[in-house]
Amino acid sequence: MTRTKVNIKPPRGKLGVLLPGMGAVSTTFIAGVEAVRRGLGEAVGSLTQLGRLRLGKRTENRSALIRDLIPLSQLETLCFGGWDIFEDSAYEAAAKAKVLEASLLEKVRPALESIKPFSAVFDPHYVTQISGSHLKAGHNKMELASMLREDIRRFKKDNQCDRLVMIWCASTERYLEPAPCHESIERFEKGLTNNDPEIPPSQIYAYAAIKERVPFANGSPNRSVELPALQQLAREMRVPIAGSDFKTGQTLMKTIIAPGLKARLLGLSGWYSTNILGNRDGEVLADPGSFKTKEVSKLSVLEQILEPSVYPQLYGKVHHQVSINYYPPRGDNKEGWDNIDIFGWLGYPMQIKVNFLCRDSILAAPIVLDLALFLDLAQRCDFHGIQEWLSFYFKSPLAAPGLKPEHDLTVQQLKLHNTLRFLGGEELINHLGLTYYGIVEE
Ligand SMILES: NC(=O)c1ccc[n+]([C@@H]2O[C@H](COP(=O)([O-])OP(=O)(O)OC[C@H]3O[C@@H](n4cnc5c(N)ncnc54)[C@H](O)[C@@H]3O)[C@@H](O)[C@H]2O)c1
Repeated sequence: MTRTKVNIKPPRGKLGVLLPGMGAVSTTFIAGVEAVRRGLGEAVGSLTQLGRLRLGKRTENRSALIRDLIPLSQLETLCFGGWDIFEDSAYEAAAKAKVLEASLLEKVRPALESIKPFSAVFDPHYVTQISGSHLKAGHNKMELASMLREDIRRFKKDNQCDRLVMIWCASTERYLEPAPCHESIERFEKGLTNNDPEIPPSQIYAYAAIKERVPFANGSPNRSVELPALQQLAREMRVPIAGSDFKTGQTLMKTIIAPGLKARLLGLSGWYSTNILGNRDGEVLADPGSFKTKEVSKLSVLEQILEPSVYPQLYGKVHHQVSINYYPPRGDNKEGWDNIDIFGWLGYPMQIKVNFLCRDSILAAPIVLDLALFLDLAQRCDFHGIQEWLSFYFKSPLAAPGLKPEHDLTVQQLKLHNTLRFLGGEELINHLGLTYYGIVEE
């Protein structure tokens, strides 16, 4: 197995985490980091904080905390900023989101109150269910991008940050097909200047970030860096990018269960998924345009994992249905039901029922933290363009053109772990295991 030493710049100074959208996910992430810093809670769900890696052969009994093996930014060095269409501070937004208990929020209140969002680039044409007045105005989309770039530079200077990352945590925009302006960066920039309607705000933020050499991840299903134009720009500017749509809740369960069924070659005839959700995200997704974006992201998962063209007798006729119902009494505490119709030996049918009472933002917050630290790591290693090793965190993982994205959580984890071993100068592990039995020499 290969051992390579990668030159990783040390994480000196402060890392600024910029968040377009200061709603439930962003504020749960920020408040959580502040709570962990003060010893008020554990960073449960975060690989960068709690994750360990097995190193070397099994007989060596060696393992290390990921953060001991790889130079990652420490929580103490993080500072936070963002944009929103409302002027609420992170404290007010967190209180309204009602994800975390008021007693916990009080303990981190000063830190959260000091975080005030920049005015947003927003257009109700792309998100119809909400409206706010904390907005930028410009003659065209290029001018709006320049204003965002100015915010980025100001934030970096005012907070004396050494490096920045940006994670899109704003509302899901309505579904848009790829358009000619997305084909190259030259066309995209022309589109910004000409106010092309195919360019929604999320793409303007992504463009601004990459132009400022700030790594960017897309936490929602709308297309932002999922375009040839911005991927080209990311490669040219040597900026790491990742996306899209945080893998939490029902889809996380799907990518755990479906690979298991496929591994045992159990057939599938139908998968019916429905949710009730009462937060602002649920309200936005009540609009058919925004839901369509989410639906495309959620539906693609099963097909990619099960490969119906390779196993037509097992997965050729799967009825897959997903719905999200906005139901305010539940707030951020989503309830998801899955009815899975499977079949076994000689086609005999069986059923699996899953009832997941999850907390959306509690599942998403550690993903935001890990993406911030890993994207910063990627930039310090000069990894640029699509970061496929971060597929683990996304419902619709990005992959190079012509490559099938990897959805299976166990494969995604292996890819992530081996990338970290590679960066740590450790042997990659392929789990072959024949050397332990003398069948293959070391
Ligand atoms: N929570 C999860 O488990 C999860 C999983 C996958 C994806 N997501 C996605 O993450 C995003 C955030 O989720 P949330 O629960 O925090 O939603 P939220 O509605 O609580 O927060 C989104 C915030 O974005 C703001 N906003 C909207 N458009 C904006 C713009 N153009 N610029 C700046 N701010 C803008 C809204 O005012 C709001 O405060 C959504 O797109 C959601 O679909 C969440």
